[in-house]
Amino acid sequence: MKNAKIVLGVSASIAAYKAVELLRLLVVEGAEVRVVMSANAGKFIAPLTFEALSGHPVYHAQFDAPNSAEMEHIRVAEKADLLVVAPATASMLGKMAHGLADDALSSLHLAFKGPVLIAPAMNEGMWWHPAVQGNIATLKSRGVKFVDPEPGELACGVIGPGRLADISVIREKIKSYFCQRDDLIGIRFLITAGPTHEAIDPVRYLSNPSSGKMGYALAEQVKARGGEVVLISGPTYLKPPEGVDFKPCKRADEMNDLVQEHLENCDVLVMSAAVGDFATETLAKEKIKKQGDAGLVLKLVPTKDILLDVAKRNLDKLVVGFAAESQNLLESALEKLKKKNLDLIVANDISASGIGFQSDFNQVTIIDREENMENLPLKPKREIADLLLDRILSRLKHS
Ligand code: CTP
Repeated sequence: MKNAKIVLGVSASIAAYKAVELLRLLVVEGAEVRVVMSANAGKFIAPLTFEALSGHPVYHAQFDAPNSAEMEHIRVAEKADLLVVAPATASMLGKMAHGLADDALSSLHLAFKGPVLIAPAMNEGMWWHPAVQGNIATLKSRGVKFVDPEPGELACGVIGPGRLADISVIREKIKSYFCQRDDLIGIRFLITAGPTHEAIDPVRYLSNPSSGKMGYALAEQVKARGGEVVLISGPTYLKPPEGVDFKPCKRADEMNDLVQEHLENCDVLVMSAAVGDFATETLAKEKIKKQGDAGLVLKLVPTKDILLDVAKRNLDKLVVGFAAESQNLLESALEKLKKKNLDLIVANDISASGIGFQSDFNQVTIIDREENMENLPLKPKREIADLLLDRILSRLKHS
């Protein structure tokens, strides 16, 4: 991000301290960052902290700036490539949506002509309030981009969406503004993501803890690099990335049908979904009732192995699989690579803590058809997605 000029807007949230780390990471990456604070942000964190880390004065008092006659905040706005507001409170979102300008940050926002990225942080009830959601919709309709808050324990003790997104996720989103690539133009990806649900009765199902984050990150990065994506997803809490052709499904056989339907029109198939290996032989029409102390015996039958089926058809597609293993990681992944006739397999150890299924991070090994192994360090899933896309692109070029 050398020479990237960024304005970091900080508003009055308990998460304001996290903006310090964001600032530090951006400065390390070579960006020139100016910090602007809302009227009350200084109650959570001192402007001096941002001043010391950015190496520039912090604009926080609209009418008391050292050189207010020069409208310093507007000059800064004019020079920046990107305005990032992190954290953005419900109040700041409201001001931005309605064009109010009563403090340094909201004024700068109005004067700013470039792209805006907002990372909100607030109480869960505030986040879901129709007024806040309406303000977000208004800002989105003007092209403003968001890094949505994450679910988790909030400062008020409530558990729900509202926590500022992980700083590394915000940093990656910022980086994507400055490192835009269009090397996937004309390449059509079919990506599967998330878990599958195999119903037992109308209220119960068999599944696994896959969050879908890896597949959605891949879909997002393909779009960011100019490619086309059909995203087939089992049930997740994620929002489909903008611009993808989204095909939701529940059961493994539904996912298989969708893959078969779209396979012909793709160049690359990436099976990152954690497809259930077993489904119940019969589906109970009504909720199964407890019978005293008696247990319940379910007969499970295997689902179709989607990748194996694709391999048998020997189509002219580049095929990538994933292997989530709790033991013998590389041996098992290699075995799957061969058995399923894959070009690449991404192996990850689901027994390691802090990575894998629900995490924003992962640590994987990419193995290619020639059995070359590449160990990647722990990275955000978005970065892993980009590295995997680089490997896919290089194979496409040499095929
Ligand atoms: N896969 C698939 N269809 C299935 C099961 C898995 O296409 N019914 C795909 C997954 O999307 C993944 C790869 O096969 O890309 C490996 O999946 P994984 O669950 O690790 O392995 P399995 O082949 O199911 O073997 P096992 O569960 O016994 O390790």
